Amino acid sequence: MSPNTTRLRGRTALVTGSTGGLGVAIAKALADQGAFVVVSGRDKERGDAVVAEIRAAGGQAGFVAADLGAGADEVLRLAQQAAESAGGPIDILVNNAGVWGLPEPTSEVSEQALLESYRTNVVAPFLLTGALVPAMVERGRGAIVNVGSITGLIGGDRSALYSSTKAAVHSLTKSWAVEYGPRGVRVNAVAPGPIATERAAEAADHLAPVLARIPSRRMSTPDEVAAAVVFLAGDDAANIHGTILSVDGGWAAA
Ligand SMILES: NC(=O)c1ccc[n+]([C@@H]2O[C@H](COP(=O)([O-])OP(=O)(O)OC[C@H]3O[C@@H](n4cnc5c(N)ncnc54)[C@H](OP(=O)(O)O)[C@@H]3O)[C@@H](O)[C@H]2O)c1
Repeated sequence: MSPNTTRLRGRTALVTGSTGGLGVAIAKALADQGAFVVVSGRDKERGDAVVAEIRAAGGQAGFVAADLGAGADEVLRLAQQAAESAGGPIDILVNNAGVWGLPEPTSEVSEQALLESYRTNVVAPFLLTGALVPAMVERGRGAIVNVGSITGLIGGDRSALYSSTKAAVHSLTKSWAVEYGPRGVRVNAVAPGPIATERAAEAADHLAPVLARIPSRRMSTPDEVAAAVVFLAGDDAANIHGTILSVDGGWAAA
């Protein structure tokens, strides 16, 4: 079987956090469009399974294990090994890996939780982008899609830690668009509302009142968010720079 379309044929993509949840849908969607996808996360077994699924569907993929909370050396190793796995420089970087949990009062957030969230959600994408973008600039082309969150655009009750990391991701998106757009690299973000991933059940009680006031009255599917990422990564979005595309069922508008 060959990939469904050829829109991204010949491109290489690295999707962080693609061993589970939303990242799996993004990896598969990019591969479906013909890209070679480097799947990454800490869990090799789940990563290998995603690669096997992509290959079984006729796509191309490889796996590189990395713990994005482990510091700069680990992030730089991922950047290097991703290019090796893909057989050339990375064209598309999707900064998707992120730590999220149930709402927690600010006064109960530990310093350790604060640092862990910032390390994975902000520091790692910052360092990974810094490691991969020079080769994109050198070739005069590249696309970076950051996964933010609607909670980084609006305030959230007991969500200060997570929301602030995602607001930082949105801010990085705009600054990088200004910094790298003139040199051929487009940087954009998606801001999902609640997504129906395997972990959604964990947040069911918290989400019920939210869903009741979202215009669509439902969560997004992972495939719906992945479609927005593929759009921003591809040439259909050739003149879109620094946008934060909400995929939230209208939550932010309500
Ligand atoms: N789910 C939602 O409703 C929702 C809404 C808005 C935004 N988002 C954002 O969407 C992104 C994906 O969320 P999700 O719900 O799919 O999360 P998830 O189901 O918890 O999956 C997280 C992914 O990130 C990886 N990951 C976590 N910590 C990592 C680390 N230290 N190093 C390397 N990889 C790490 C995990 O892989 P390993 O376990 O293999 O390391 C996994 O593949 C996140 O940025 C999240 O903030 C989610």
